[in-house]
Amino acid sequence: MKKTDRIVRLLSSDIEKKDILEVACGSADFSVAAASLANSVSCIDLDDSRLNPMVAQSNVCFQIMDASQMEYQDHSFDTIVMYNAYYHIQTQWKEIEKECRRVLRNRGCIYIIGTWKLDTSIMLDIFGDKAFWLDDFLIVKEFVE
Ligand SMILES: C[S@@+](CC[C@H](N)C(=O)[O-])C[C@H]1O[C@@H](n2cnc3c(N)ncnc32)[C@H](O)[C@@H]1O
Repeated sequence: MKKTDRIVRLLSSDIEKKDILEVACGSADFSVAAASLANSVSCIDLDDSRLNPMVAQSNVCFQIMDASQMEYQDHSFDTIVMYNAYYHIQTQWKEIEKECRRVLRNRGCIYIIGTWKLDTSIMLDIFGDKAFWLDDFLIVKEFVE
């Protein structure tokens, strides 16, 4: 089973029948995997050069968009995911987190997920005890009241 299918299954309670946004999606493999369970999946990145062609065949809506200045309305999503992307957005995290909180609905959540050493080491440095392992995925989960 693909890693992205495994993590979608592990997080299914926050994905099934929910409106999902993947930020800094790159290939958007996570979004493609989530599409079978979610109500809707949107994903954004600064460019589409690595986008998985499966995105076009699934019900995933990809847009080129800066995560620190999202075009979505307030309270648009239930769950936001960053998959193997924290290292690349770390310097903008404050602005991106603020935007994530704005576009999330009440009682929504943000998942930062890392499997690559590049991401997991910086996540452990920045988030410390807030980061936990679930199988071979390092996860930080933030709640929005
Ligand atoms: C390691 S890659 C993506 C990993 C991706 N989740 C995957 O599995 O392919 C990090 C991505 O962050 C994107 N990125 C960096 N800053 C961004 C921003 N401000 N808004 C949206 N995407 C951003 C980059 O364009 C790049 O595609």
